Amino acid sequence: MAVIAVYSPKGGVGKTTLSVDLAWRSAMLGHQRTLLWDLDVQGGAAYLLGIDVEPRLRAAGVFQRDGRPEQLIERTAFPGLSLLSADDSLRALPLHLARLGQRRRLAVLAQSLQRDFDRVIPDCPPMQGEVSDQIISAADVLIVPLPASPLAARALDLLRRDLLRCHGRHPPLLPVLSMYDVRRRAHRLAREGRMAAFPVIPQSSLIEQTAFRRAPIGTFAPNSEAAQSLDRLWRAIEVKLWEDRAVG
Ligand SMILES: Nc1ncnc2c1ncn2[C@@H]1O[C@H](COP(=O)(O)OP(=O)(O)OP(=O)(O)O)[C@@H](O)[C@H]1O
Ligand SMILES: [Mg+2]
Repeated sequence: MAVIAVYSPKGGVGKTTLSVDLAWRSAMLGHQRTLLWDLDVQGGAAYLLGIDVEPRLRAAGVFQRDGRPEQLIERTAFPGLSLLSADDSLRALPLHLARLGQRRRLAVLAQSLQRDFDRVIPDCPPMQGEVSDQIISAADVLIVPLPASPLAARALDLLRRDLLRCHGRHPPLLPVLSMYDVRRRAHRLAREGRMAAFPVIPQSSLIEQTAFRRAPIGTFAPNSEAAQSLDRLWRAIEVKLWEDRAVG
């Protein structure tokens, strides 16, 4: 089982969009039993999959000592893809986790699901704090969406430094240029140098439409350039997981 987390200290960089798409690809194209675990109170993951969640207050409860995540996991319309959706109880999750005092609680819960799932993909909240720290500790690979800006390479260096300081050994990072617009000179310039090797997800109206259609791009425009870029990213992640296992 592997935990794949899309992480960024910045908000609005496409974390939820990428997490949902990667989870869909993992299940539908990779035939991996995949759990999308929404840890953001905004509940965007269910929304993007076209699922309306009943109001309830149970999502944070799974972190308690006797919490049972499997009781809240639902199947989706996509074979192999399951969802543990968010609700308002997650507002109190940082407090619960701090009280619990177990820095690897999420990692332990994810491991407890390994009989049922091959991939667990949490949707990270935009704020840095106890929840994102737990996600980082649980992750086998961290996908880091970066805006195409001259400051992004620096932000990545700062992130590496912070991860080392706060987490010691941290999971391998896979930086991704997110919402890249080839027509913009500033974006092309930002992609020079070491960013040239990073996978690119274009700024795309089709990707934007996933939020209006409430369906993954693979269901309505599977052969588009945008879908192909997401496919390359998913394959790059699988290769990275495989390489790290081979080395480890
Ligand atoms: N490649 C893309 N091209 C165009 N629009 C995109 C792309 N990726 C994401 N978006 C749009 O950008 C907005 C923010 O995306 P998303 O909610 O996935 O970001 P986020 O990092 O999860 O945000 P938050 O930090 O609030 O959780 C959404 O409207 C989404 O549809
Ligand atoms: Mg989000």
